[in-house]
Amino acid sequence: MTTKETLIRNLKEKKARIAILGLGYVGLPLAVVFGEAGFHVTGVDPDSRKIDCLNKGTSYIPDVKTESIEKLVKSGHLTATTDFSVLKEMDAVSICVPTPLRQTGDPDMSFIISATEELAKYMHKGMVVVLESTTYPGTTREVLLPKLGAENGLTVGEDWFLAFSPERVDPGREDFTTINTPKVMGGITEACSEVASAWYEGAIKIVHSVSSAEAAEMAKLLENTFRMINIGLVNELAIMCERLGVDVWEVIDAAATKPFGFMKFTPGPGLGGHCIPIDPLYLSWKMKSFHYNARFIELASEINTNMPRYVVSRVMEALNDRGKALKGSRVLVLGAAYKPDIDDVRESPAFDVIGLLQKKGAQVEYHDPYIPRIHHETDGWHMESVKDVMKSVRDADAVVIITNHKVYDYKAIVEAAKFVFDSRNATRSVAKNSDKVVRL
Ligand SMILES: NC(=O)c1ccc[n+]([C@@H]2O[C@H](COP(=O)([O-])OP(=O)(O)OC[C@H]3O[C@@H](n4cnc5c(N)ncnc54)[C@H](O)[C@@H]3O)[C@@H](O)[C@H]2O)c1
Repeated sequence: MTTKETLIRNLKEKKARIAILGLGYVGLPLAVVFGEAGFHVTGVDPDSRKIDCLNKGTSYIPDVKTESIEKLVKSGHLTATTDFSVLKEMDAVSICVPTPLRQTGDPDMSFIISATEELAKYMHKGMVVVLESTTYPGTTREVLLPKLGAENGLTVGEDWFLAFSPERVDPGREDFTTINTPKVMGGITEACSEVASAWYEGAIKIVHSVSSAEAAEMAKLLENTFRMINIGLVNELAIMCERLGVDVWEVIDAAATKPFGFMKFTPGPGLGGHCIPIDPLYLSWKMKSFHYNARFIELASEINTNMPRYVVSRVMEALNDRGKALKGSRVLVLGAAYKPDIDDVRESPAFDVIGLLQKKGAQVEYHDPYIPRIHHETDGWHMESVKDVMKSVRDADAVVIITNHKVYDYKAIVEAAKFVFDSRNATRSVAKNSDKVVRL
């Protein structure tokens, strides 16, 4: 039997030992899916708090149930460690580490590089490695391949196998989760795709193979760039509608009645999360090395980045219409998460909105049922979520809805507030007191 055939057999029989590098929003659900499919999974993460939690059988990711972790830990299908040397025992490794941006807006590849360097120490014949982190096209071949293969004297496609498979997790979503969201898989060679697909097909319903790692990397960037650009488009539509005196929400709902050729996107106070505001910039950064300016991305990014400023200027105008200056006014920001019903604040526009309101002299408070405190690293401020949200609503000169969490009683909020600026159309069904509400 060749190395490839042996590995495929072990993967199909679930005898192959699996490691997940990086146990965050992406890596932990993936570890659970593989564990529940019958693989023995070892999670490796330098964050000892996460490892302690898992080994005690508890989850720290809202989408992953503690009962699932408890069951997997008890049955021995999931173990977790900070010790990378376990990798020498592994047959299949999936890398799910962060890919943020640097302060300068360039890709921060340090996590991929450090995970690759750790893994390189323990590479051996008969291993398959899949990179899941969103990154620029070429990363798998240019960064992982030489470090893991040639530098260890291993031939890719024969001695070991390497592929890229973008994660598509949508935190908070219940209809499509890791197990039933199709996975794109692109290997460095055909044999790499074959081995990596054999592995993932053992746990995930649909694996769609493409001809190269670059095609898979680019597919992920297309998905996220598509969202970013369409959000940029509706954000600009909101600005245009306001000038025209037209209700943008009504326009979007009307357009969305078309059963074909239109997809609904909604405006908001700015982009958030770890993917949509960041990933397209990985592509535009890469294209610069080809002397190509990714214009759609640049334009959408400019519009989206300006939305917090636009929201604050609209709050200021609306207060002015009510005979009040923003300076000195009490403003309550509702929601700090970047999207509803989750506890993730990464890249949340709430930070920019709060910072800008403060710079204009407003006395700002915030409330988020899922996020007890926030801090802005660069600007150096800390805030605690207000304890009694309805009291703060009553006391505020302006309530600014940034995240449309379902748990809020918008009817009661509008009734109690002096004025509400709604950047998410969260108050759409509140008919009473509509004169108190200004929508984006
Ligand atoms: N969160 C999402 O919704 C989402 C969706 C699709 C794709 N992605 C992409 O998936 C990747 C991971 O994102 P995430 O949201 O899971 O990030 P995360 O920050 O939640 O988790 C990453 C984990 O990697 C660990 N880590 C850091 N350096 C490491 C190393 N050298 N070795 C092992 N572990 C290391 C961190 O401690 C952390 O626990 C990113 O590229 C992201 O763009 C995220």
